[in-house]
Amino acid sequence: MDKLKLGVLISGRGSNLQALIDACADPGYPAEIVLVISNRPDAGGLARTQATDIATRVIEHTNYEDRESFDRDVDAALRDAGAQLICLAGFMRLLSAWFVDQWPDRIVNIHPSLLPAFKGTDSHAQALAAGVKLTGCTVHFVRSEMDAGPIIMQAAVPVLYGDDEDSLAARVLTAEHQCYPRAVRLIAEGRITVEDSRATITDNLEAGPPLYNPPAD
Ligand code: GRF
Repeated sequence: MDKLKLGVLISGRGSNLQALIDACADPGYPAEIVLVISNRPDAGGLARTQATDIATRVIEHTNYEDRESFDRDVDAALRDAGAQLICLAGFMRLLSAWFVDQWPDRIVNIHPSLLPAFKGTDSHAQALAAGVKLTGCTVHFVRSEMDAGPIIMQAAVPVLYGDDEDSLAARVLTAEHQCYPRAVRLIAEGRITVEDSRATITDNLEAGPPLYNPPAD
């Protein structure tokens, strides 16, 4: 079976990109990365493709007068590379409605909270301020509103006494690295159906145990 061709967009350290690179290194994984694009030339994540043969491009948003002309060049690069699914992995630019319309249900993002709670860039601070005992991460299809769109997969992560933003972010990040490749696998295997604002996985019929925090006696 042909592998699903991924274009990965980053702005920073690229640890989720690394999780996707590692997953794709398994010959049985149903997706492959055909292009990585960074909008920042100094993104640490760019180094992660060095030991691979993955094509990498820097498209600096600061060279463009408006959002859509930047998006048009990103779109062209992804099409030239043959990308079929775009994975946002710490990509810190809002995509224009034009761009999102070009890739209907073909753009996914990972966000470090259990959406729809705690949208935005300070999700861990919001979780700590709210006093929730479980937070986590979400992989979702992208809509032009920030951190919105049909939810594909989530992982719940405990918030512990004494946590600060860094300790909580680190715990959630470990779950992110598990979630993103799994969510992409579900898409590549054709197991996700999107209807309006919901993504459904029709063969998802078996519940794991509930996660208690604090742990149940
Ligand atoms: C992750 O926490 C991701 O959920 C959020 O931005 C961070 C990116 O981290 N969207 P990395 O660049 O993948 O290490």
